[in-house]
Amino acid sequence: MATLHNQDILRADQFNKEEVALIMDTARAFEQDLQGGKVLNTMNGQILASLFLEPSTRTRLSFETAMLRLGGGVVTVADPKTSSAAKGESLHDTIKTVEGYADLIVLRHPQIGAAEQAAAATDKPILNAGDGAGQHPTQSLLDLYTIKKEKGTADGLTITLAGDLKNGRTVHSLVDLLLLFDVKFYFVAPPALRMPAEIVEKLSNKGIEVTETESLEQALAASDVLYMTRIQRERFADPAEYECLKGSYVLNQALLDKAKEGITIMHPLPRVNEIATDIDDYAGAAYFRQAANGIPVRMALLALVVGRA
Ligand code: CP
Repeated sequence: MATLHNQDILRADQFNKEEVALIMDTARAFEQDLQGGKVLNTMNGQILASLFLEPSTRTRLSFETAMLRLGGGVVTVADPKTSSAAKGESLHDTIKTVEGYADLIVLRHPQIGAAEQAAAATDKPILNAGDGAGQHPTQSLLDLYTIKKEKGTADGLTITLAGDLKNGRTVHSLVDLLLLFDVKFYFVAPPALRMPAEIVEKLSNKGIEVTETESLEQALAASDVLYMTRIQRERFADPAEYECLKGSYVLNQALLDKAKEGITIMHPLPRVNEIATDIDDYAGAAYFRQAANGIPVRMALLALVVGRA
């Protein structure tokens, strides 16, 4: 039987299909509880440490809301300048300290691999809330939950990932998770921001069809889901390169008119200008519903890793 009890949540490719089904089913049950106005005490007596050493709105607030909705408590670092990381404390020492205060730890960190380092420092569950350009596994789970809610199933879909596919941890994790399903991909990016070759190779080794193109228009015509991403200023060493690439793709009404009928538009957010605001009124614009889905999915993860769901 699938279980996540005492597991760290570090990478999207750590899950098998049964574990993903368990997370989806648990999230659905919590969502129904919330819709029914149920007050939960699932995490009564548990404390979540929420350590965000990189900026966040959705991930931090939805994890903390999830814990509070489950009846647990939260301690938080929302700004690295207010933690002793600013005085040069190592991640190892921060985690060894925080494990004495909390029952489970959510970590966002600017360095790839930071969540694995944190997990090596403690037996308390670590949940990776984004490690640099590496992974964002809890985002990919809420993305999958959104796809299933919007489309009924992930199987049989053609999914376009567009934007900064080189540095985008959300797309790296989403690809890893969707490897468990029968999907086809379009990867739309400028040459400098293409999906890393090892990820494309992993897909082709699994027999998953991938079309790489610079043309968003070409991909839209064939896609059931468009997953737009931001060109991430913070990942560029050279600001001039960011300035050249920042407006590469903008979904506006003229482009949407050329898309497959009923296409679902997703975005992990924040957006800068890659989706025009007039698209927000389109029925298939799912990005704010997607952000809200972070609550039941993160409730499920928190409860499952401590064995309370
Ligand atoms: N999607 C996401 O990770 O958003 P935040 O950076 O606001 O947490």
